[in-house]
Amino acid sequence: MKKYDFDTIIERQETSSQKWDCMDRLFGTNDLLPMWVADMDFKAPPEILEVLRERVDHGILGYTCRRPSYHQAISRWFTSRHGWTPETEWIRHAPGVVPALAAAILAFTQPGDGVLVQPPVYYPFFTAIRGRGRTVVENPLLFKDGRFEMDYGDLEKKLEDSSVKLVFLCSPHNPVGRVWSRQELETFASICAAKGVIVISDEIHCDILFDGAKHTPYASISEEARDHSITTVAPSKTFNIAGLSTAAAIIPSKRLRDNYQSVLDFLHIDSGNVFGTLALEAAYTSGGPWLDELLVYLEGNLDFIEKFLADRLPRITLIRPEGTYVPLLDCRSLEMTGPDLERLLVEKGGVALDGGHWFGVGGTGFVRINIATPRALLKEGLERIEKALG
Ligand SMILES: Cc1ncc(COP(=O)(O)O)c(C=O)c1O
Repeated sequence: MKKYDFDTIIERQETSSQKWDCMDRLFGTNDLLPMWVADMDFKAPPEILEVLRERVDHGILGYTCRRPSYHQAISRWFTSRHGWTPETEWIRHAPGVVPALAAAILAFTQPGDGVLVQPPVYYPFFTAIRGRGRTVVENPLLFKDGRFEMDYGDLEKKLEDSSVKLVFLCSPHNPVGRVWSRQELETFASICAAKGVIVISDEIHCDILFDGAKHTPYASISEEARDHSITTVAPSKTFNIAGLSTAAAIIPSKRLRDNYQSVLDFLHIDSGNVFGTLALEAAYTSGGPWLDELLVYLEGNLDFIEKFLADRLPRITLIRPEGTYVPLLDCRSLEMTGPDLERLLVEKGGVALDGGHWFGVGGTGFVRINIATPRALLKEGLERIEKALG
């Protein structure tokens, strides 16, 4: 029997929501239906909200610390959900996954060094790399028979450039929706190992899996991969608590860990915030049943989109994701530039979607849609897309 409600539409306007109240910064107006940035229009699990409510009632919001149960909750979650047991000692704090990537850039690279990415990919990767004068090195994904794959030949070639010190792996991959198989990761890892680069495996989407897809933690691939990687994880996407700015970096190598920690200490950002700390532990301890129901609901949304497009907008196709709730819609048959497509959706449809071109090479002609919304809003969003593109 269903226990949780994903159908109720909750008013989010005027709640300081980036998705609903600050669209104008990117789209020029807030008078749009937002289907962009990756947070959900669902309430977080009641098991988390209850813990937060208790703390509000307690009333003291002083400096916070992470107790052993916090790290144990992370380790247990990855054991039970993904078959990999990070040691609690390996777990370090991050005030978000992007801040962890930025800390890694500061810890492991110098200005001028290269950081490899696999576009089309989550665009803040580019900002993090360029922000302090590092260089983006691109290993574009290939689009074959309706799905994206890694280009290993190009990866080897790009890593011949000895200035490349770091590789950002997005696993599962936003926005292409791939959940990389063990075999794909093994090939990727062996190429990276041969070049001696450090891999930052951003696994923030690892819990959002469809149709039997199985996430393989990068650090579980081999000893080599474990000892040369940092895995970034967070309950923020999974449980819709991104506003609590709490994530973790799992770093098995002591050398890498100490170096990463020194950046946190320097910036004095290790302590975290009280609500995020409590929420992470509650999420990874009690959030499983909510997540299981969420995944069923999201799969229903994917089916709904496919049917809607087939019936009413056959020129557009959903790139059915194996994971993540932000898949791509293939609009290449419209033969429009990214900015033109974005403008049409905004001006004629009144809907805000991430332009595929925001994600770099290979993204043009696609748009990214956020499906983590009540079905009634999803339907409205699709009707707006139909109005713009139909
Ligand atoms: C791949 C990826 N990494 C990181 C983030 C954001 O992480 P945070 O908000 O913890 O910085 C997102 C958000 O959509 C994402 O898709």
